[in-house]
Amino acid sequence: MENNVTFLKELKVGEIIPSDIYFNKTLLIKAGTKVDENLLRNLKSWGISKVNSLYIKNPEEQELRRTYANPLKNKEKIFYSKELFDIKKLFFESLQYVVSETRYGLILNRDAQITWLEDLFISSLLNTEISIALFNLKKKDPYSYFHSFDVFLLGALLADMAGIRDIQSFAIGCLIHDIGKLDISNELLQKEGALSKAEFDEIQKHTLNGVEFIEKHNLPDALRAVVKSHHERLDGTGYPEGLTAEALSEEVRLLAVVDTYSALTLQRSYREAFSSIKAIELLLSKGTKYDIKYVIHLMELINIYPTDSIVRLSNGKKAKIKSVHENQPYFPILEELGNSKVYQLPLNFSVTISRFIEWEQVVDATNDDVINNKELYWNSFISQILIGDMDEAMECYKRITEGMNLNNIFIDVIIRLIKEIETRKLEGELSTGEEHDAFIKIKDILIENFK
Ligand SMILES: [Fe+2]
Ligand SMILES: [Fe+2]
Repeated sequence: MENNVTFLKELKVGEIIPSDIYFNKTLLIKAGTKVDENLLRNLKSWGISKVNSLYIKNPEEQELRRTYANPLKNKEKIFYSKELFDIKKLFFESLQYVVSETRYGLILNRDAQITWLEDLFISSLLNTEISIALFNLKKKDPYSYFHSFDVFLLGALLADMAGIRDIQSFAIGCLIHDIGKLDISNELLQKEGALSKAEFDEIQKHTLNGVEFIEKHNLPDALRAVVKSHHERLDGTGYPEGLTAEALSEEVRLLAVVDTYSALTLQRSYREAFSSIKAIELLLSKGTKYDIKYVIHLMELINIYPTDSIVRLSNGKKAKIKSVHENQPYFPILEELGNSKVYQLPLNFSVTISRFIEWEQVVDATNDDVINNKELYWNSFISQILIGDMDEAMECYKRITEGMNLNNIFIDVIIRLIKEIETRKLEGELSTGEEHDAFIKIKDILIENFK
């Protein structure tokens, strides 16, 4: 085993790696790989020349036990074994924190997926600078760390599905995409409510701080674009440079989708998280900002599709999703098109959804602030008023009117609501009776809130 120590030190461009090289159980380099500048740079950035004793061929439990059993013989081994232990511990702690079936569907129920992600996480954290920075981020602002881990899991799985070439680099990019937040004050990172213009300008700097981190630690250039541009949007409304679609790589587009999904659906101490369904509806409705093909990949990855999606089933039939329960969104109720058969997707997986075809609903989105999206509540607000569930309607009302003054509430919410009800009546969607009932509900809201 110790022979590998010398072997790695002597690697030269053009040579062929004769056998698989592992870090514990993580396959770092496959046998037969030709050594090039890139590989040498990766080895260097992983710190391999410094920790040769851990890079062993085909490792066995015995070897690890030997490392732990003879601590005094080799201090370097104890240090790196402890480091590996900490990384593995962090992986499972983070997994437990971010993964739930309501956000991930059933994708992580297979051991093979977890092992692959664990290996990817370990090999990403082999770079000491990255590892230290992530541990520091966790200490400074746990939410930012767990969000980064979440983006790493979903990003890696989606990149694999979408055929992104260098998944290892992309996975590292996901892990450190918000690393520039290390330089932003906690007061600002954890601020509740709306940010002032100056505060928003300050938050935006995390993208450029991230680029500085990459330069300072000589990390691969491939990481630069995803870190710098993950807040850019296809229509040019993002930051820091306001780039448009042509300038955004596939990796950046994919990360933008996953980043937004994670930010919306992860619980924060001061706000309710969006359900996975609402987050996907939001991404679908922002087709000018996000690359829709990655939104579709995300739906197909986690097997969660919003109401009104048209999908292809594994039995070859086309179906429309009729309703989705937020606690079990991967078993929706659907209607087979053509024969109007309505049923819940069978729990024994005898019929599954093979792919997404289209979404029939179009959310009338006017608010550009994705995180603070009130439009999703708007549709729900109107539906609840029409159904007559005023408790639910008032919940939506509270979210929509958060931070607004009475004047704006009157014009932007009440008047808009009246106009919308009138339009629906004119278009034949509502009967005179339903319109009348809705106006009585609106009058109740006015009496309650404009005393
Ligand atoms: Fe960010
Ligand atoms: Fe982020």
